[in-house]
Amino acid sequence: MKETPEIRPAAGRLGVLLPGLGAVATTTVAGVIAVRNGLATPIGSLTQMNTIRLGRRIDGRNPLIRDFVDIASLDQLVFGAWDPIPDNAYESATNSGVLSREHLDPIKDELSAVKPMPAVFDTEYVKRLDGPNVKTAANKKELAEALREDIRRFKEENGCDRLVMVWCGSTEIFLRPGPAHETLDAFEKAMADNDDSIAPSMLYAYAALMEGVPYANGAPNLSADFPALEQLAIDREVPIVGKDFKTGQTLIKTILAPGLKARMLGLDGWFSTNILGNRDGEVLDDPESFKTKEESKLGALEHILQPDLYPELYGNFYHKVRINYYPPRGDNKEGWDSIDLFGWMGYKMQIKIDFLCRDSILAAPIVLDLAIFMDLASRAGMKGIQEWLSFYFKAPQTAPGLYPEHDLFIQQMKLKNTLRWLGGEEQITHLGLEYYD
Ligand SMILES: NC(=O)c1ccc[n+]([C@@H]2O[C@H](COP(=O)([O-])OP(=O)(O)OC[C@H]3O[C@@H](n4cnc5c(N)ncnc54)[C@H](O)[C@@H]3O)[C@@H](O)[C@H]2O)c1
Repeated sequence: MKETPEIRPAAGRLGVLLPGLGAVATTTVAGVIAVRNGLATPIGSLTQMNTIRLGRRIDGRNPLIRDFVDIASLDQLVFGAWDPIPDNAYESATNSGVLSREHLDPIKDELSAVKPMPAVFDTEYVKRLDGPNVKTAANKKELAEALREDIRRFKEENGCDRLVMVWCGSTEIFLRPGPAHETLDAFEKAMADNDDSIAPSMLYAYAALMEGVPYANGAPNLSADFPALEQLAIDREVPIVGKDFKTGQTLIKTILAPGLKARMLGLDGWFSTNILGNRDGEVLDDPESFKTKEESKLGALEHILQPDLYPELYGNFYHKVRINYYPPRGDNKEGWDSIDLFGWMGYKMQIKIDFLCRDSILAAPIVLDLAIFMDLASRAGMKGIQEWLSFYFKAPQTAPGLYPEHDLFIQQMKLKNTLRWLGGEEQITHLGLEYYD
């Protein structure tokens, strides 16, 4: 096994930079401030609440993850953001309608102090939005340089020792990797030429990597998911991870599908539909942004069920995902799943799921954990794609040629075994023969 690395201590302040100060970002920031003030509990966060088993089942060693590995505490975090809409975090959180005034008002001053920096934004890539708080420059290369200056200034003004960036901005239109994304030279030339294939989220990712800042991508945009930036991350020794936070319907799908497969139950079809009324829903109402999301959501079942290995069970299932913008629901999404499965001798059965979820409530602990774990990875010298954090993503980024692991339970085992490795502990294989010797 690879040797456990030296980990630099998590001392000092950790700046968490959020491109996009909308529902997810403000729910994260408000939650962290509320927890720090003893007003809330960080439910859903592994870094704050989960334990990790060490050694044998009978050893009784189950420390909290945060006591086992040296990770930044909530008191060390300081937040920064960019958004084309100039609202501060309190105003944006109020407009998003996720958290109630009862939670927001006691922390109004601290929340209002988080004001978005002018964004690199272009309506060509997010059609249903616009805002005045934007940067202008002669070309995309200069815009990226302006982001780099923001990063340096933020670090200095806030006395941060280290930074991480988590993309919480809107879903951009669907783009495929092309020649401009192959090498760093091609990418930098395309930025200078204002090439259409360079979307704003890529400029944030590039700026972060050039400044040595770990980059996590919460949306399905390409962003850093192409060879030029993957190589840059390795060259600069910076961790990257993506894409698209695993919340709501995909979370349920990746909990349930591994169970059906584990019991060798067959699948005829899985129809998933969502109604949601927040700004994300409005952006996804545009077919080009929806296409990006659809691609991200469709992959999970194929990879979990492995139709090539089990053609009789999964060779022919019909998978459909719909997202419907329906304003009355606000951030409280309704995700319907209608699953047609078959068992012994081909007899048909159905499962219906109606998940009345709150998207940003599910996403906020992910943003927090990613910020903290990406900082840990960086201090441990882990560079490039961090597949051990695929637990948090709908479309996990993986090494070229490697299929992504979507099964939530395999992802969890991978995450915890990585933590054990970082903490110099033995891997847990679940073989367990030693209990019967
Ligand atoms: N909530 C979830 O469960 C969930 C799950 C997976 C992915 N996501 C993704 O996370 C992102 C944020 O979701 P949300 O519900 O907070 O959406 P939101 O619309 O409330 O917030 C997104 C914010 O990003 C800003 N923005 C857009 N382009 C930007 C740019 N170039 N630079 C800086 N800011 C920019 C918008 O003005 C907006 O304020 C979306 O892409 C969404 O698809 C959310």
